[in-house]
Amino acid sequence: MKGKRILLGISGGIAAYKCCTLVRLLVKQGASVQVLMTPDAADFVSPLTLSVLSKNPVHANFKNNNHEWNNHVELALNADLMIIAPATANTIGKMAHGICDNLLLATYFSAKCTVMFAPAMDLDMHAHKAIQNNINTLTGYGNYIIPAESGELASGLSGTGRMAEPETIAAHIESYFKKKNTLKGKQVLITAGPTYEAIDPVRFIGNHSTGKMGLSLATAFAEEGANVVLICGPGVQQIALPKNITRIDVVAAAQMHEACLKHFKQSDITVMSAAVADYRPAEMASSKIKKKSNGLDLTLVKNPDILHDLGTKKSAKQLLIGFALETDNERQHAAEKLKRKNLDMIVLNSLNDKGAGFGTDTNKVTLLFKSKRTKALPLMSKLDVATEIVKEVISM
Ligand code: PMT
Repeated sequence: MKGKRILLGISGGIAAYKCCTLVRLLVKQGASVQVLMTPDAADFVSPLTLSVLSKNPVHANFKNNNHEWNNHVELALNADLMIIAPATANTIGKMAHGICDNLLLATYFSAKCTVMFAPAMDLDMHAHKAIQNNINTLTGYGNYIIPAESGELASGLSGTGRMAEPETIAAHIESYFKKKNTLKGKQVLITAGPTYEAIDPVRFIGNHSTGKMGLSLATAFAEEGANVVLICGPGVQQIALPKNITRIDVVAAAQMHEACLKHFKQSDITVMSAAVADYRPAEMASSKIKKKSNGLDLTLVKNPDILHDLGTKKSAKQLLIGFALETDNERQHAAEKLKRKNLDMIVLNSLNDKGAGFGTDTNKVTLLFKSKRTKALPLMSKLDVATEIVKEVISM
């Protein structure tokens, strides 16, 4: 972290007091920390304390006491990283909806560097759909979430909403700066999201995949300097992507298959996280099927197993990684897929685990390797799961 310029944006929540420890940890590791506060944050922690600890003046307003302008654009453009901690429901809502009524927010909207945010609020606020939607919007814009932890809250209630501990936040920041472009020059192919198999012009067979896991994988590989081709099924959120990710949108398994075949040969690493439909209607009706009787028979035919096909074409220099989404006999089924599809690693997630699988921002996975080694990971954000997968790929 030596020499890194970190902007710490503190918004007005009780967890703000923990920022004193956070600043100390960052400064101790050699970072230069510039603290920004929302006007309310000063009710929870003294700007003077933060100024002494960071060895820098603390800014809370667009102008300081000498009537000088605090240039938010300059602050934003000079930073290597911005971290907003605690990120209150109010600040998260404003960040998600483009509301810019203080210096911290103006700096956030001007920032070109990676922005991390550590939500902190009471458990029912944190669980509220509107707030979860705002958090999803922010991660969808490419911001990096340091998830709230579970435990005792300032209200006296217990649940998820506590800001991550300063040591945890500092560890996220440290690991962000540790990334060394280890995969520079490597070509990575990733699939994400569902496939839709048309029944008629208005209906399809599909599944609940959102592509969050695949987007996280693309981000994690790109952060290590790889060139990523990301093949997305329908409905995967359109987010701003770094230059080294090329996105290709497809709808049905046949198109995903074709796109994978086009890019597989030149790929050093392939990770298939898409939930591909195993079957499609034998024929797509050319016009909307009308209701005629109580029942309707559909004849389905098998789709190509894309991963299996790539496994037969794989050279010794290529790494091929699959996912397994299971509901029973999880390990056994995943181990069978690993072998049958000629994979180097398979990432098992089970729908029996809370917070794992479709649509969530978190996942709980077990990695199974060709060498028979296994590694079970705890529940963590999908970005952290992706980072763990990237680490394994690097060591392979
Ligand atoms: O997208 P999210 O909402 O974030 O959810 C993430 C996820 C649950 C979709 C993801 O973590 C996941 O488990 N993806 C794989 C889902 C799946 O289809 O699993 P499977 O066990 O049916 O397939 C095994 C492997 O074969 C997968 O790598 C799959 O991409 C591949 N496959 C499957 C069928 C097929 N016809 N072609 C394939 O390539």
